[in-house]
Amino acid sequence: MAVERTLSIIKPDAVAKNVIGEIITRFEKAGLKVVEARMQQLTREEAEGFYAVHKERPFFNDLVSFMISGPVFIQALEGENAIQKNRDLMGATDPKKAEPGTIRADFAESIDANAVHGSDAPETAAVEIAYFFGK
Ligand code: PPS
Repeated sequence: MAVERTLSIIKPDAVAKNVIGEIITRFEKAGLKVVEARMQQLTREEAEGFYAVHKERPFFNDLVSFMISGPVFIQALEGENAIQKNRDLMGATDPKKAEPGTIRADFAESIDANAVHGSDAPETAAVEIAYFFGK
């Protein structure tokens, strides 16, 4: 299986809940290694740029406002099958639909404050990692 990198963001709701360490522990226990990491307060422009692909969606402004409501913890994770492994650990976008034991089931309140972001494909992972950490 291929060793991949994926971008993970611990969102403002989870940072405010003080569960950065618990979330990273789940990544590490699943065999993912944190190879880049930074705490950052995103500007509106940075959040809009990151989510540009969603700019026509009805929730775009709410999503951007939420993502700048407090600091986020941004990481690149590396490991075998890292993109899908991270998505499995995260659980469904809507925490009400997330499998028990997933990060969103355990730490997220709602679809608009859902604790974590994870890249969804190799192409987006490369773009997203470069967006925050360069090439
Ligand atoms: S996903 O995870 O990309 O497949 O999900 P998707 O439905 O395409 O959602 C894209 C991102 O938008 C967030 N989202 C929302 N934010 C606010 N309100 C509503 N209703 C909403 N629905 C989806 C969702 O969490 C995705 O953000 P990221 O950061 O990628 O998880």
